[in-house]
Amino acid sequence: EKGGYEHFMLKEMYEQPKAVSDTLSPRIKGNRIVIEELGMSDEEIRSIRKIYIIACGSAFHSGMTNKYVFEGLARIPVEVDLASEFRYRDPIFEPDTLVIIVSQSGETADSLAALREAKAHGVPVLGIVNVVGSSIAREADHVMYTWAGPEIAVATTKAYSTQLIAQYLLALKFAQVRGTVTDEELEEMIQDLKELPDQIEMLLNNKEKIQHFANRYIAARDVFFIGRGIDYAISMEGSLKLKEISYIHSEAYAAGELKHGTISLIEDGTLVAAVLTQESLYKKMISNIEEVRTRGAFVLAVTNVGNHEVEKTADYVIYIPKTNRYFTNSLAIIPLQLFGYYVAIGKGCDVDKPRNLAKSVTVE
Ligand code: M6R
Repeated sequence: EKGGYEHFMLKEMYEQPKAVSDTLSPRIKGNRIVIEELGMSDEEIRSIRKIYIIACGSAFHSGMTNKYVFEGLARIPVEVDLASEFRYRDPIFEPDTLVIIVSQSGETADSLAALREAKAHGVPVLGIVNVVGSSIAREADHVMYTWAGPEIAVATTKAYSTQLIAQYLLALKFAQVRGTVTDEELEEMIQDLKELPDQIEMLLNNKEKIQHFANRYIAARDVFFIGRGIDYAISMEGSLKLKEISYIHSEAYAAGELKHGTISLIEDGTLVAAVLTQESLYKKMISNIEEVRTRGAFVLAVTNVGNHEVEKTADYVIYIPKTNRYFTNSLAIIPLQLFGYYVAIGKGCDVDKPRNLAKSVTVE
C-alpha cells in the first residue's frame, strides 16, 4: 500500500505534484478562477471586510502564508489564529467578516469548536478541508476541498501543499471579483500556478543532495529556521516538520527578531536554515545570515535561482525555480520537508508514526 516507498511520508511527498495539480486544475478556466462549489455571490465577496483564518498545526501555517497572499492580492485584512486560542478569547465578530477554517481531517476538535463559535455569532464560515464529508465540511456554510487524497503519515506534506494552493485560488478569486489585480496580472499568476506541479517534481528529484546534507545533522541539538514575511511562515512549517518526526529541537524565527533574544542560542556549528525568496528582503536577510555566521552558525539557505549574492554568505545553498513571489512557499517547503524526513530516517525514527502524536486531534 506504500506503493514501493519506504514510508507513507515519502510516498505522500512524491504525490504532491499530482495533489497540487488536482487541486488547481478544476478551478482554472482559461484565464479565470472559477470555484464552482464555493457558493458565494460576487456581491458577498465584494462585501468582505475582514477574514479570520483559523486552524491548528500545519494548517495554521498555511494560513500564516496566506495572510500575505489575501492581503497582498485581494487587499482584505486577515487575522490568522490558532483554533485553540481563538475559541477562548472572546473574538470580535463584526458584520462582513468571513471565517475560514483550514483542516486536513475536518475533525480537529478545536477547529470544529471555532467553526461553531463563529456560526453561533452569525458569521459565515468557509471550510478548506481534505476529508470529504468530515464534520467541518458538513457544518461549514461553504466548502472548498483540497484534493490531496488520503493522507496517512502523521506529518502532513501533500495536504499542507494543497491547503496553500486552495487559499491562493481563493485569494485570486476574491482579487478577480474585487478588481484588485489586473487581467494581465491574473493571467501571469495563473500561468505560474500551472507550472508549480512540474517545479515541485523537479525539487523532489533533488532529494539525494538533501539527504546527503541531512545526514550531517542527525546529531544536531537545536536547529533554527529564519525568514521574513512569507518566508517566516514557511520557516514555521519547516521547523515543525523537523521537530515532529526527528525530535530535534527547532524554532522558527522572524529573522528581524533574532537579535531580540534567540541569537544568544547560536553556538559554533548550530544549523540555521534561512529562507529568502522575497527579492525585496534579500539584503535584510543577508545581513541576518551574516549576524548568525559571525556567531559560528552553519547556514543553509533556500533561495530563488539566480540569487548569487547569497552564495557569498551562506555555507550551503538550495535553489528553487522561479515563480510569482506569492507562491514561493509551495516550492520552498519541498527541500524543508525532505530535510526533516532524512534527518529523522538517519536517526532511525518512526517517521510515519512519531511518538505522542495522532493524525487527527479530536480531543480538546
Ligand atoms: O487535520 P488538521 O489539518 O485539522 O490537523 C491540524 C494539525 O493537527 C496537523 O497539521 C499537525 O500539526 C500535523 N502533525 C503537522 O504535520
